[in-house]
Amino acid sequence: MNQGFIALILAAGKGTRFKSDKVKVLHSFLGKPMLRLVLDTVLRLRPQKVLIVVGYQKEEIRKEFKPGQVAFVVQKEQLGTAHAVLAAKNVLQKKSDMDLLVINGDLPLVRPETLRPLMALHKKEKNALTFLSAELENPTGFGRVIRSDDTIRVVEERDASPAERKIKEVNTGVYLFRIRDLLEALPRVSNKNKKKEFYLTDVTGIMAQEGKKIGFYKTEHRGEFIGVNSRYEMAQAIEVLRERKIKDLTEDGVTILDPKTTWIDLNVRIGEDTVIYPSVIIEGRSVIGRGCRLYPFTHIKDSEIGSRVQILSSTMIEESIIEDEAQVGPFSRLRPGSVIRKRAKVGNFVEMKKTVLGSQSKAMHLSYLGDCEIKGKVNVGAGTITCNYDGKKKHKTFIDEGAFIGSGTQLIAPVKIGKRAYIGAGSTITKDVSPDSLAVSRAKQVERKNWSRRKRNK
Ligand code: UD1
Ligand code: CA
Repeated sequence: MNQGFIALILAAGKGTRFKSDKVKVLHSFLGKPMLRLVLDTVLRLRPQKVLIVVGYQKEEIRKEFKPGQVAFVVQKEQLGTAHAVLAAKNVLQKKSDMDLLVINGDLPLVRPETLRPLMALHKKEKNALTFLSAELENPTGFGRVIRSDDTIRVVEERDASPAERKIKEVNTGVYLFRIRDLLEALPRVSNKNKKKEFYLTDVTGIMAQEGKKIGFYKTEHRGEFIGVNSRYEMAQAIEVLRERKIKDLTEDGVTILDPKTTWIDLNVRIGEDTVIYPSVIIEGRSVIGRGCRLYPFTHIKDSEIGSRVQILSSTMIEESIIEDEAQVGPFSRLRPGSVIRKRAKVGNFVEMKKTVLGSQSKAMHLSYLGDCEIKGKVNVGAGTITCNYDGKKKHKTFIDEGAFIGSGTQLIAPVKIGKRAYIGAGSTITKDVSPDSLAVSRAKQVERKNWSRRKRNK
């Protein structure tokens, strides 16, 4: 294959067995759509071009993939896998001397290493078709590989005889074709079978009859060929990906104390010497620095965490940034747009949204801080609440460096607290407070001597 090869991914089917409104190949596997996983594998084999056959929800699929990386071919009606390949006929005709790698779009576990021997064998044997087979303990649902003395063909399970169904060697759904021979055979595929579909697998029999050279490569990596047809198979595939991700991270120097309960999305990056306690979930495009500790039940989504950060138990962090040596939790909730600067601390039952907490500032207990900019070395007392919403609009609170907000304060936004200003506990602050001053707004305490005793004696 010195002249290279073209790859074709089959992804036009709805995925009926998934019982979903969303096309099967767009379902997320640890943060990546299934089709993206297949495409990543294919791209690592360096094809000259990648075609994806789409049909059901083709616009949604197109949106997911950058133009330029792949070309889409539309199969209007989904009449079977052979019919799907035919949808690319015009493109393929121009490349008839090349080889075509066809892969089902529902094989999210296949690694490039596993496909390389197939490609090498195809080239070495100069075959018209080489397909990848695997010996499975439970071959249910797969096409079976039938061999007679001189030929080899694939029969779908539905159309197989009881004896054929006992065969454990299956078609994995990955094929290499010489394009010229494929284009010759495809129009001859019929749909006279139980499903009334045009099966790509019938090309085997047709080519064999024509005396074309068919080969197969039996892979040892049978675990990679879960063809995800149902949600249960999806769960099984996710389990494999999850374990792989955890293994990769440990090899990169991350301590994962309990792999069984740790969920880390495929796009997440984590630095050396970070320790992950049991039952931690890290999703999306999160990046975690070095030497962090993430304690149990931490849930992080699309966030950036610096180095030597401590996230204490039961903390939820979404679309936020936490800088080096900060500490968050236990029981904190950082909603989108929160920024915790260096060495700042957020404690239990503190909720933040679109709020910057300056370097070395602290908000340790029971607070709501929304649409708020807090400079460095500020102390936000227990029970402080920014009243940022007037029922129609959100307003901002600004707290300057070194200010001290006493416990139980309500800050009615928009409002500004000056540098080093003090707010007396229990205040409701409606006006800006100038630097270095004290603001208190609460009723003066009155005391009526013996009031309680008189009430009792009435
Ligand atoms: C297919 C193979 C079977 C093999 C198994 C491996 C055929 C006929 N059978 O069965 O031998 O053991 O994969 O997992 O190929 N698609 C289209 N257009 C269509 C129909 C399907 O693009 O008209 C796409 C689907 O979106 C899917 C892929 O082709 O990504 C395979 O289709 P699927 O229905 O999952 O085939 P299986 O029954 O799994
Ligand atoms: Ca399948």
